[in-house]
Amino acid sequence: MKIVVIQGPNLNMLGVREQQIYGPMKLEQIHAQMQEYATQNGIEIEFFQTNLEGEIVDKLQECYGDADGIIINAAAYTHTSIAIRDAIAAVAIPTIEVHISNIHRREEFRKENMIAPVCTSSVVGFGPFGYHLAMTGMLQIMTEIQAAQEAQAADQA
Ligand code: DQA
Repeated sequence: MKIVVIQGPNLNMLGVREQQIYGPMKLEQIHAQMQEYATQNGIEIEFFQTNLEGEIVDKLQECYGDADGIIINAAAYTHTSIAIRDAIAAVAIPTIEVHISNIHRREEFRKENMIAPVCTSSVVGFGPFGYHLAMTGMLQIMTEIQAAQEAQAADQA
């Protein structure tokens, strides 16, 4: 099983940017923890960060036929990007969106979420721990998909 983690704009600044909102942890530290959990559970994991909207679309398209699950924090593009929303819908891979902060408790413009309706689920407001919750959630989703596939195969046999 392979999970691709996509991190949007300014998340490369974690540990520096607005620490009162996002905390002191750096992106590399978050990824190291995710890598450890993935290794423990026999999951292949790939990390990608970009500040560019089109590169997120390209990466999502590359996931087609390659990834079993996507964890994405589209950051500010969450609130604006129809292109990212369409790419998530197009590849039709189980996708969990993560937000470190609770976007529902912040400015009005952050309540608009273009991508949540095409994601399997959202993890919001847990700080960096949200990425770990997304990993455990993805494992649960994968287990359920596998069980459903096995049940279908047994029905057809
Ligand atoms: C964020 C929330 C967004 O509104 C913001 O633009 C970010 C980070 C979060 O993880 O809380 O860059 O996605």
